[in-house]
Amino acid sequence: STSASLSGLRLVVSAGPTYEDIDPVRFIGNRSSGKMGFAIAGAAARRGAQVVLVAGPVSLPTPADVQRVDVRSAAQMHEAVLAALPADAYIGAAAVADFAPAQAASSKIKKQAGQDSMTLTLVRTRDILADVADHPHRPRIVVGFAAETDHVEAYARGKLEKKRLDLIAANRVGMAGTGFESDDNALTVYAADGAVHALGPAAKTQLADALLDLIAQRLTE
Ligand code: PMT
Repeated sequence: STSASLSGLRLVVSAGPTYEDIDPVRFIGNRSSGKMGFAIAGAAARRGAQVVLVAGPVSLPTPADVQRVDVRSAAQMHEAVLAALPADAYIGAAAVADFAPAQAASSKIKKQAGQDSMTLTLVRTRDILADVADHPHRPRIVVGFAAETDHVEAYARGKLEKKRLDLIAANRVGMAGTGFESDDNALTVYAADGAVHALGPAAKTQLADALLDLIAQRLTE
């Protein structure tokens, strides 16, 4: 293939959902399968990069030549990603919970007779992407994903700016055939320098290589 080599570069990739425990048997999660992030990690390793893949709870095999770190919660993912720095690029493909239970109950929460509602207090998780972009060992290229059901462009550009990213890959979610769970996806990539790239619809494995081309370009210029 004509793909640019990533030899000599270190990439950190996050993938999958996070699970935020409510009690020993229940959690708050989301529909991320990990396919998008695993495809990026595998493609980067095939191009010769040294890859650390921080994975939430998913059932996918580890791509060849990838160093995988398994985590469960947003807090654990935050710690594992920052521990993997320094790196040349960070790609945040994980669907990280924005809120988590203020505390996990140590025993199973029981419903009471006559109880017809309950309130769970959630607190904000730390923003991994923003903290990577703000880190003393900030990678040269920081790439976020934006999963939106509507106003995709406005929200994606907002995140690009607010989190001080180099690239953001926006995908529409909430419909069949793209986004969460499926083997295919379509991405619109917005760059801090104003460039816009429409990638796909295509297999996530193919999109991974197209996204890595954009990253490789920026790392070698
Ligand atoms: O895993 P798949 O089934 O293959 O599906 C792929 C995907 C749809 C999950 C993926 O393509 C994707 O869009 N991932 C990001 C999903 C998401 O959580 O988007 P967001 O708009 O909520 O978050 C924006 C960005 O901030 C993401 O890069 C996310 O990793 C990051 N974030 C969010 C919250 C937080 N506490 N820390 C973060 O780093």
